[in-house]
Amino acid sequence: MHLTVNGSPREVDSQRFPTLLAALRDQLGLTGPKLSCGHGECGACTVRLNGDLVYACLSLTAACEGAQIETVEGLAAGENLHPLQQAFITHDATQCGFCTPGQLMAAAALLERNPSPSEEEIRTAMSGNLCRCGTYPKIVAAIRAVAAGANG
Ligand code: FES
Ligand code: FES
Repeated sequence: MHLTVNGSPREVDSQRFPTLLAALRDQLGLTGPKLSCGHGECGACTVRLNGDLVYACLSLTAACEGAQIETVEGLAAGENLHPLQQAFITHDATQCGFCTPGQLMAAAALLERNPSPSEEEIRTAMSGNLCRCGTYPKIVAAIRAVAAGANG
């Protein structure tokens, strides 16, 4: 299968790596998206597929021919962190960090479609991404800071 991943053309083997998450992590070495529940409940594997947020653990590689995939590895611009990445650091929104790549992808998608979300809109948009460390208030604070233009 031919994909574009974070702007670069890549090939993946859909027979050996039937889920998009396996293809990204185990074939392409992009380990930002995490395998946690493996069945669409936690959001740790969140990536963007043709702009839409998806759970990569549930996405079939075979259905991704020609797709544009974005992972957390593509968020930063070279050495410059994405404002959300910086804000997560500034607001201490990461504890173990396992959920963070998925949280960042969901937050980035939210701010693209709604640059000034209310707290309720943030909580709704982020509801598909669980954090077992309970950093939700800090994640909301980080997103609100970026939305307010504080850049973290
Ligand atoms: S690992 Fe995909 S939703 Fe949990
Ligand atoms: S920071 Fe540990 S699961 Fe979210």
